[in-house]
Amino acid sequence: MTERSAGATLVRGGTVITMDDARRVIPDGAVVIEGSRITAVGRRDEVTAPAGAAVLDARGRYVIPGLIQAHLHLCQTLFRNLADDLELLDWLKLRIWPFEAAHDAGSMRSAAELGIAELLRGGTTALLDMGTVGHYDVVFEAAERTGIRLTGGKAMMDLGDDVPRGLRESTRASVDESVALAQRWHGKADGRLRYAFCPRFALSCTDDLLREVGSLVAGANDGVMMHTHASENRTECRLVRERFGRENIHALHELGLVGDRAGLAHCVWVDESERALLAQTGAAVLHCPGSNLKLASGIAPIPELMEAGATVAIGADGAPCNNNLDAFGEMRLAALIQKPRLGPRAMPARTVLELATRGGAAALGLDAEIGSLEAGKRADLVVLDPGRIASFPGDEPYGRVVYSVSADQVEHVFVDGRPLLRDGRLLTLDEDEVMTRAGSDLARVLSRADTGT
Ligand code: GUN
Repeated sequence: MTERSAGATLVRGGTVITMDDARRVIPDGAVVIEGSRITAVGRRDEVTAPAGAAVLDARGRYVIPGLIQAHLHLCQTLFRNLADDLELLDWLKLRIWPFEAAHDAGSMRSAAELGIAELLRGGTTALLDMGTVGHYDVVFEAAERTGIRLTGGKAMMDLGDDVPRGLRESTRASVDESVALAQRWHGKADGRLRYAFCPRFALSCTDDLLREVGSLVAGANDGVMMHTHASENRTECRLVRERFGRENIHALHELGLVGDRAGLAHCVWVDESERALLAQTGAAVLHCPGSNLKLASGIAPIPELMEAGATVAIGADGAPCNNNLDAFGEMRLAALIQKPRLGPRAMPARTVLELATRGGAAALGLDAEIGSLEAGKRADLVVLDPGRIASFPGDEPYGRVVYSVSADQVEHVFVDGRPLLRDGRLLTLDEDEVMTRAGSDLARVLSRADTGT
């Protein structure tokens, strides 16, 4: 790329997969970035850039909207490969909660930076994250520094005998700390950082906490959202049914938590009436196919949810239940897992790319800002090389991106017009340094973690 000048960049000559309302795919296209926004998208010969704009030659490349992962746990990245082959509740109690309870600010920083490095390398430009109970300022600081677009919040956990002491909080402290984090971070970095209240799941929260979060989110008019897990695992659903006397989504709805600023991760075990409720309320279903397979949770009825009219987005979940944070892998799985159940036309490639772009933007309440390449939107975009051997030949762009491109084909990433990956190299993180520090931080966390082994 030539020198940047006056904050403008012309991405020239690639196939631009806009994901706009008309789903235009523009061969030999161009995208103009000025400051943090896209100012023009079109054919190369019809688009003009300001004099002195830097030029990024994208011939032979695909230019796509930044991928949006709407359910992640950056704090768990340090625990990758340390919690395999367990089902959800054992995975949490035997491994993840003890590990999370042993985090300190330094290890949180390493976990966040490891995760962000992997996300940016793989073309993810925005995420919805859930932290652990403490140290969430560190995650916002990492996002602020590295340039990724983050909506997230600390996990809220005021219930559960199995919850380690280091994670168990009082209702008041949980709400007060969440409100203070929202006040410190929501809207910061020109709106790139946003807050989500994160009651972890019904089983780790009292009715009082859930109700209070519901009214805080309903009373806010600044885009603060609610992010939780729901109906991921059959035992979880049974325990919720025993406690509330109704199905999970209905119980959460009665507590005021299921509305158009809610993101509910998983939704594997939702019956027809819960699917209808999710659609009617405008809540987003955050689909995590890799995690749902690895934790043996099940296959979420995504085509049925979409048929009912629900908003659906995609996420890799945490590194210890996947074990990657790779949006391309997740898209591929999202398509493939439905086909044996519903036939080869279920979840076509274009639909899946929609979930990873427009669906993610809608789930975050940012559909006016991101999710497609259009003049006026934030310049969050990815340039990838579809011409490598594993995705060559063939030029059906959606199928190529969803079924054969992998994360290592991502060459350039911009967020808010700022280049964060150039020619495959991270510009805001030193990968070697992050990995070295993560190694020593992990040793310290493991020496403290009480996993009973
Ligand atoms: N349910 C409650 N906490 C978690 C978590 O950390 N990961 C997943 N996958 N499900 C959860």
